[in-house]
Amino acid sequence: MSRFLGLDVGTQGTKGLLIDLERGEVVARASASYGLIEGLPVGAAEQAPETWWRAVRDVVHALVATAGADAEPIAGIGVSGQQHGFVALDAEREVLRPAKLWCDTSTAKEAQELSDALGRSVPAGFTASKILWMKRYEPERFARLRHVLLPHDWIDLRLTGELWAECGDASGTGFFDGAARDYDRASMEAIDPSLAGWMPTLVAPNAPASTLSTDAAADLGLPAGIPVAPGGGDNMMSAIGSGAVRSGEYVVSLGTSGTVFTHSSDPIESDGLIAPFCDSTGGWLPLLCVMNATGVTEEVRRAFDADVDGLTQAARDVSAGCDGLLFVPYLAGERVPDLPDATGTLLGIRSGSLSPARLFRAALEGTSLNIAWGIERMRALGLEPDAVRVVGGGARNELWCQILAALLDVHVQRSGEPEAAALGAALQAAWVVTAPGGSREQLIELSAPFVAHSGRLIAPDELGGDARPTYRALAERFPREVARLYPADERRASRR
Ligand code: XUL
Repeated sequence: MSRFLGLDVGTQGTKGLLIDLERGEVVARASASYGLIEGLPVGAAEQAPETWWRAVRDVVHALVATAGADAEPIAGIGVSGQQHGFVALDAEREVLRPAKLWCDTSTAKEAQELSDALGRSVPAGFTASKILWMKRYEPERFARLRHVLLPHDWIDLRLTGELWAECGDASGTGFFDGAARDYDRASMEAIDPSLAGWMPTLVAPNAPASTLSTDAAADLGLPAGIPVAPGGGDNMMSAIGSGAVRSGEYVVSLGTSGTVFTHSSDPIESDGLIAPFCDSTGGWLPLLCVMNATGVTEEVRRAFDADVDGLTQAARDVSAGCDGLLFVPYLAGERVPDLPDATGTLLGIRSGSLSPARLFRAALEGTSLNIAWGIERMRALGLEPDAVRVVGGGARNELWCQILAALLDVHVQRSGEPEAAALGAALQAAWVVTAPGGSREQLIELSAPFVAHSGRLIAPDELGGDARPTYRALAERFPREVARLYPADERRASRR
């Protein structure tokens, strides 16, 4: 009982890894990429759940092939998934339409309506507004809706034939009471009186939820009956896979979205923008999510058909503050601050500003300024960072980590395992199988060898020169520029 499989079904692809619990190491890795459905109206971001399943199948086959035919059998499976996506099923559990994803902002009006009705912020990215949108614009399909799932719930359904949900991912629906660890009836009522009957039962985080069905086993080339863990949202699983186990220890994840989270043993009182999520171990996971991270650096890279390493190297020679060029990076709209319809803006363009190196550095700085502004909101809730670990694809970029360290004025360390969510899913599987009903401490203990930090500590003053005072001044200026670009009353009016 030492091999465990973790899968992370993300927005750009599915990543998987096999861990060996006794040896304390990852023994195989695989991934399969996919994109969004093309040609949809501006703001819409959708994927067919079947695309995820095909990727899961490819990844599992590749992992089994890498491990070798006489490898030890897999003792448990855990699934992490992109949060908030709305998977709509009919009574036969057939998918009714492509899933609207966390980065779909086409439901901003419905989100505003729900926020007004409930007297609290319901971000457009959360599942709630997507259900209301379907009710409004696709009434015939909505009439057939019988089950509402999140992406990882649906993969678990495909693996086991059974329906369940767990508090971590469910707390991102927008109709969940994090403190009570239960669905919030009044919010569900505001969307549709039947919604409560369409949500899966919540299971405990620390015991297997089911086992691999005969059908799924045949599809994946694995034996039937392998225990399947409850799973969770990718941020909850990243928290496990990066060892964010005590308050004050922050994780910054630089992926398609940028997220910042920390463990809390009590529920937090949200300011409406910092999400009061549950984690997938029985605690809480206050979380900041911004929609613009690696998508922005990728956009610049693509525009110049350049490679990230070359651009980063050249960006090192650009002075902090980019000689006045400021990139307000809202290419995908934004969640924090709440600007789903925003676009990107370049301020302070002069002759020579648009060189690839300067633009790339401006992208690193703009995304970091936006994240740092969000972290100020977390600090205001009493969640002070004393150590920051960076995970996700963007963590490979050392300059980005140095800019963050200077801006946040804390030491930053890169995590040893970039695929923290897939690792977290494998570790959750190991926990529920080896210690069913076990404590959080047991999970922390078995995770320890896997989450040992391997990156060096990056100090706030590594960029030298006047980087820190420049960034301090920019951190004060950035919110003012955003307020100037998007005055609060105009924003509200445009969504009604
Ligand atoms: C978190 C969020 C994103 C997705 C990305 O609230 O929306 O981080 O989970 O997969």
